[in-house]
Amino acid sequence: MKNGYFITFEGGEACGKSTQVKKLKEYISTLKNKDDFLFVREPGGTPLTDKIRRLLLNYEEDKPLPMTELLLFCAARVENIEKCVKPALQQGKVVIADRFYDSTIAYQGMARGIMSAQDILTLTKKIIGPLKPDLTFYLKISPSEAFKRKAKMGEMDRIEKEGLDFHEKVAKGYNFISNIEKERFYCLDATKEPDIIFNEIITVLKEKLPEKFK
Ligand SMILES: Nc1ncnc2c1ncn2[C@@H]1O[C@H](COP(=O)(O)OP(=O)(O)O)[C@@H](O)[C@H]1O
Ligand SMILES: [Mg+2]
Repeated sequence: MKNGYFITFEGGEACGKSTQVKKLKEYISTLKNKDDFLFVREPGGTPLTDKIRRLLLNYEEDKPLPMTELLLFCAARVENIEKCVKPALQQGKVVIADRFYDSTIAYQGMARGIMSAQDILTLTKKIIGPLKPDLTFYLKISPSEAFKRKAKMGEMDRIEKEGLDFHEKVAKGYNFISNIEKERFYCLDATKEPDIIFNEIITVLKEKLPEKFK
């Protein structure tokens, strides 16, 4: 039985997920109970899934078909869930993930259009069972605003290089899942200053998990 707490960070490219996760990691590293937390990223977390991550994001020789991409993400998720996330939750830990299945719905479902967002959700549930995040921080920013940020960034991976219309579909995918699983979504205005967003995140976490964030 699960008795930990599962937090995910979601949103389109350059909305600031990794920036906020990094701040949270730094904050938690100062807590006495820092061992109550586990950070994971999707795809990745085990030697095998780190290899899958490289295939998905940096392998230019033979571009995967959209269905292959979907299945590789799903394969990495099963490994991550069974080997890292579930054991940590069973030990009562707070697991924090930079992306989870909402990303698959948004990217492989709505944006690539291999199957409907609903079908991807159904597939996900079959693969991982009833496990759902308890809380999802959704960093909301318009794709055009995010594009301006991306232009300032260095090298981009294969999926980041997709065009504006792809990322507009990604935003629609997030709307879809945030309407279905409303209760776990906490929407943040990703255009605010990083420190302002982070303060809001900490306020929410102290409210939801007073025992862990004293
Ligand atoms: N709130 C913010 N306001 C302005 N720029 C930001 C903000 N958060 C992140 N950035 C910048 O945007 C870029 C993408 O941030 P990142 O955290 O890597 O996004 P993601 O992980 O969601 O793709 C980085 O250059 C980062 O410094
Ligand atoms: Mg990131």
